[in-house]
Amino acid sequence: MRIIRAKDYDDMSRKAAHIIAAQVILKPDCVLGLATGGTPVGTYKQLVEWYDQGELDFSEVTSVNLDEYRGLPREHPESYWSFMHRNLFDHVNIDPAAINLPDGTNMDAAAECARYDEVIRRVGGVDLQLLGIGHDGHIGFNEPSDAFDLGTHCVDLKPETIEANKRFFDGNVDLVPKQAYTMGTRTILQARKVLMVVNGKAKAEIVKKSFFGPVTPEVPASILQMHPDFVLVGDEEALSLI
Ligand code: F6R
Repeated sequence: MRIIRAKDYDDMSRKAAHIIAAQVILKPDCVLGLATGGTPVGTYKQLVEWYDQGELDFSEVTSVNLDEYRGLPREHPESYWSFMHRNLFDHVNIDPAAINLPDGTNMDAAAECARYDEVIRRVGGVDLQLLGIGHDGHIGFNEPSDAFDLGTHCVDLKPETIEANKRFFDGNVDLVPKQAYTMGTRTILQARKVLMVVNGKAKAEIVKKSFFGPVTPEVPASILQMHPDFVLVGDEEALSLI
């Protein structure tokens, strides 16, 4: 595990973008595993800026995203498909045919999870997986539990998550998706490189617990301690307890 200390959010974003840019330069036809959420937005913004300056070329890149809400059409503004297009894909020259996310509209969970695992296998696995971390140590939608989930699977969102998300769905809890498809822990661990971005005081405790505590499925991110090439880029606040 390598820990890179950044001054603040912008510095964290720039450092993480440098690592992703290096991956794309070293292997132009690489497979990038991508994440949504607030933390990586600055990283994507930086990548777009370098693309605009002619520094980066995504034409041969394949992407596989971590997760997607089950039951939400791609076009919905809160789908992760929309998030990724808004923040990255619409602004760079990635081939639309090389963009992969779980299909939230396939309500046959077993079939969709098997399809997505097959997509990841077919593209040759993930070269670099970008991750954020939840306050409870979740990665993707792998929530604390008594065992690590392996491949892509369907999860029930926790009532707190549904409640927190209702602000994006006209404040109506009935419109919030209740399930999601997520890559499993094994798939994440099989990525050849894992890059986590984390910022803010509110994440300091979980960073300490995840990377300086025991490896346990009760803290899903703790499994990354076992990864041979795991890089954590955090700002001062997030790393303040380690
Ligand atoms: C995103 C994802 C989540 C987030 C995590 C942190 O695809 O799977 O695990 O990385 O919830 O979210 P933020 O960055 O919003 O704090």
